[in-house]
Amino acid sequence: MAGSGGLNPAVVGLGRMGRGIARRLLSQGIEVWVYNRTPQKTETLVSEGAHGVYSLEELVKTVPSPRLFWLMLPAGEVTDRHIEELSRLGGEGDIIIDGANSYYKDDILREKDLEERGLGYLDVGVSGGVWGEKEGFCLMVGGKRALYEKAEYVFKALAPKDGYLYCGPAGAGHFVKMVHNAIEYALMEAYAEGFELLWRSPYGRGVRMADVAALWQRGSVIRSWLLELLERVFRRENDLSSIRGYVEDSGEGRWAIKEAIDLDVPFEGIAYSLFRRFRSRQEESFAEKILAALRAEFGGHRVFKDEKT
Ligand SMILES: NC(=O)c1ccc[n+]([C@@H]2O[C@H](COP(=O)([O-])OP(=O)(O)OC[C@H]3O[C@@H](n4cnc5c(N)ncnc54)[C@H](OP(=O)(O)O)[C@@H]3O)[C@@H](O)[C@H]2O)c1
Repeated sequence: MAGSGGLNPAVVGLGRMGRGIARRLLSQGIEVWVYNRTPQKTETLVSEGAHGVYSLEELVKTVPSPRLFWLMLPAGEVTDRHIEELSRLGGEGDIIIDGANSYYKDDILREKDLEERGLGYLDVGVSGGVWGEKEGFCLMVGGKRALYEKAEYVFKALAPKDGYLYCGPAGAGHFVKMVHNAIEYALMEAYAEGFELLWRSPYGRGVRMADVAALWQRGSVIRSWLLELLERVFRRENDLSSIRGYVEDSGEGRWAIKEAIDLDVPFEGIAYSLFRRFRSRQEESFAEKILAALRAEFGGHRVFKDEKT
């Protein structure tokens, strides 16, 4: 059975996000085709009711036209390569959706390129993480409105109530998602710093961090889903002793800061949050050595020597 939009959806990339998307479509009674580089993940989805295929060629041959290819892959080269191949194999009327955290300027080029080949393109920022499968995914959609309307039944199936939005022309979906993720950096940073102060204070030993995170979800001004997640984390381990404070980033914060510079937008909190992540990856900071050395040089202040030297 094709979806009510007449498009037949196929999910390409069955990692943490892609498999959640495929499963949620299945749970909403939508027929779905799936493909993944590693075939075991495809087989798992087949056992749950999806149609499995094992190459992009087979995907295009098997899914009835017009097709809706939902790509959920690492942004950049991997997504580009899959779009290129699907546009070569696919046909008039097919739509490619990029659900990755891609750079919005790439969307503008892709839309133009695909249009010349008779295919449609939508950029969709996806939020909700691995919880989206159960709770619904928050979707930010960019591209031609007519294509959005064709694919809307899929967005409706994936999102919670009122959880998807047409944000504007090509790039708008990923731009809004970029801003969303930039905000996420600063929110996380604020919680992290606040809880560290509490943890290190004389009161930090007397109160369980999880209880505070739970309390602040009850009527407090700073209640949020991040606090719910933090409560879960602290319930597992109050002192986080098993976790190394090494924090990665996946690009959106960097792009947002560059946009803010271009548009003269003060962006201190978010920029600081990104740089804190960089700092978290350094064993030893050269800049901090300089601070210590300079204080010693001008004021005779104490310098702690590296034990290795
Ligand atoms: N995780 C989140 O909370 C989240 C939220 C919103 C958006 N996103 C975005 O969604 C996308 C997918 O994220 P994810 O968390 O689902 O990642 P993931 O669990 O690491 O899955 C990555 C997927 O990409 C495939 N893949 C990786 N490298 C490939 C290659 N060279 N050739 C072909 N396939 C390749 C993997 O296939 P194999 O199974 O064969 O390795 C897998 O299907 C990313 O762009 C991410 O930024 C993630």
